[in-house]
Amino acid sequence: MKLLVVKLVTLLSLVVAGDIVSYDGYKVYRLIVTTSAEIDLLSELRNDQRIDFWSRHRIPNVPVDAMVPPDAQTEFETLLKINAITYEVIINNFEETEIIGRSFERRNITLVTISSGGSNKPTIFADAGIHAREWIAPSMALYIINQLVENATNAHLYANVDWVLIPVANPDGYEFTHSNTRMWRKTRSTATICYGADPNRNFGYHWGESGSSTWQCDDIFAGRHAFSEVETQAIRNYLAIHSHHIKLYVAIHSHVNGTNYTVGNSAELLYTSAGCSDDYAKSVGIELSYTIELPGGGTSGFDLPPEDILSTVEETWEGFKAYHQYVENKFVNLTN
Ligand SMILES: *[C@@H]1O[C@H](CO)[C@@H](O)[C@H](O)[C@H]1NC(C)=O
Ligand SMILES: *[C@@H]1O[C@H](CO)[C@@H](O)[C@H](O)[C@H]1NC(C)=O
Ligand SMILES: *[C@@H]1O[C@H](CO)[C@@H](O)[C@H](O)[C@H]1NC(C)=O
Ligand SMILES: *[C@@H]1O[C@H](CO)[C@@H](O)[C@H](O)[C@H]1NC(C)=O
Ligand SMILES: [Zn+2]
Repeated sequence: MKLLVVKLVTLLSLVVAGDIVSYDGYKVYRLIVTTSAEIDLLSELRNDQRIDFWSRHRIPNVPVDAMVPPDAQTEFETLLKINAITYEVIINNFEETEIIGRSFERRNITLVTISSGGSNKPTIFADAGIHAREWIAPSMALYIINQLVENATNAHLYANVDWVLIPVANPDGYEFTHSNTRMWRKTRSTATICYGADPNRNFGYHWGESGSSTWQCDDIFAGRHAFSEVETQAIRNYLAIHSHHIKLYVAIHSHVNGTNYTVGNSAELLYTSAGCSDDYAKSVGIELSYTIELPGGGTSGFDLPPEDILSTVEETWEGFKAYHQYVENKFVNLTN
């Protein structure tokens, strides 16, 4: 349990540092070994550091999945062919990591796509960390990525549906909550008297209406105009190209108390807030759009105790699986 938390934290710092492992061009192979000679060959292949075997068993006829980087693929396939091992490529390009823009302070805004290949498949999109201080949100996004990328049991979750996540949509603010002010919420642009705008009031749909502020120093300052912030521009530009196949948009935020979720129109359940990413997503034609408020730390507000991180992301992951199920049922034509 502890280990996984540590791993999440490490992943998070990797994202912040921009030192991201790119899986671009990596293929995932499914092998079926039947004879003991073939099993022995597989054991040898396991010593090859370039190949990431997802299962370690030595049982005949039970598929073994292995992820192979581009520079080892020809060699790997040749070896399988020579030894007449049955295989198929189950994932053509394991993961694409993309920089969709730069923050005001020139940090990369990273977007991660998890796909089994093909194009224009029904897609689940999530933005996280748009509010700097809501630290559980980037952890949630990273946990989703981790479960999709590292846990072979979940391979069916990206067989017909693509996932696109922005784990840290407001990297300057996120950094600032670590270096200076824990409770910072906005971006860090300097074109105004006070720093920044609330990026989740800055989207161009009913911008500047109720639940947002025109006073620059407010935490819910909507910005000088719609899309004044480069961080919201980056999401807008991505959606302009891809919205037609995004079926579900999720804005990941915190916090609520407890884990007893209420579902409904956020203007009724919480408060009105114009210029948010969820409404904007809906306005560009994305059929389903949600904001999730993750549990915070009860009396400790945004500071979820470290020991609660894992249970929080685990239970919310169950919700994302339900999202996936719904998108697959509704938008994937499995008879094709
Ligand atoms: C930002 O992304 C570019 C690629 O577009 C990469 O070369 C650079 O190293 C990244 N910077 C950081 C700090 O991660
Ligand atoms: C992998 O996913 C399965 C099924 O969703 C789950 O039961 C298991 O705990 C996950 N493993 C890890 C290491 O997260
Ligand atoms: C959670 O919600 C259900 C249904 O509204 C209610 O019966 C239950 O008592 C709630 N649990 C807690 C801990 O609030
Ligand atoms: C959070 O909810 C729990 C019950 O689920 C309650 O006991 C606790 O007092 C609440 N804390 C705050 C800060 O509202
Ligand atoms: Zn928020």
